[in-house]
Amino acid sequence: MGYENLHVEREDGIAVVTVSRPAKLNALNGRTLEELDASFASLASDDGVKGVILTGAGEKAFVAGADIEELAGLDADAGRALSERGHRVFDRIEWLGKPVVAAVNGFALGGGCELALACHVRIASENASLGTPEVKLGLICGYGGTQRLPRLIGRGAALEILLTGERVSAQEALRVGLVNRVVPREELLAAARSLLRQMIVNGPLALRATLEAVHGGADRPLAEAQDSEAQLFGELCASQDAREGTRAFLEKRAPRFEGR
Ligand code: COA
Repeated sequence: MGYENLHVEREDGIAVVTVSRPAKLNALNGRTLEELDASFASLASDDGVKGVILTGAGEKAFVAGADIEELAGLDADAGRALSERGHRVFDRIEWLGKPVVAAVNGFALGGGCELALACHVRIASENASLGTPEVKLGLICGYGGTQRLPRLIGRGAALEILLTGERVSAQEALRVGLVNRVVPREELLAAARSLLRQMIVNGPLALRATLEAVHGGADRPLAEAQDSEAQLFGELCASQDAREGTRAFLEKRAPRFEGR
């Protein structure tokens, strides 16, 4: 499918999804949100894709937020509906079942910061700047930010960012755990690719189960979450991939995982 505001390239098991509305710093208008939804639905069912990199087009921005032109003048019902639509799209990214790395190449503000938070791992370029300026517009995060940010970096650090609306530098984001790594701009995509490669050489069923155990367990009581871990562990023990992985170790060779 052709997209107006996204590019999707697939190479060697990795899909690179680039949000591309550079004249508006890649702000997420309704169309872009729909295209993200459609592209991740298609990546979920594409067995040739083992992992995804999400980034923004141009030199300045990852994504500068929801499109403020579309926010102006929403009534209560339309605002709630927009937020719920964003939740569905970003949940789809988080629950892709394959690792998703955000390559944050510039401004990641508001919905852009929330988009990065919906990814599993974040790498930032040195010029990146992250934040949730919604309060400056008289709004709050609507695409999961009030929930994912404190879960990721803790309530105190999250509330500083959420309540001030001020941007934090890549280095500050690294310090508080909002991003995993910071690299020079020109090395960003290569660093994201290299990290993703370290993940996708592993068994795809094991990657999917890890994501499910971590995300599914995060908000459940420990005993319940561990029960789910045990269930997933048991299922993997019976998989061809686990047989292959353990046998390959014992035979001192690289495993050949088939995802079954
Ligand atoms: N929604 C809609 N348009 C946006 C946008 C957004 N979130 N962010 C940037 N743009 C547009 C600008 O309106 C401008 O469009 P124009 O050239 O037609 O006037 C274009 O993108 C370039 O942005 P500009 O503000 O000129 O760039 P800058 O380098 O001076 O500033 C930012 C960059 C990111 C600091 C600034 O654009 C900004 O504060 N954006 C809004 C961030 C925000 O509040 N996001 C949360 C929204 S929920």
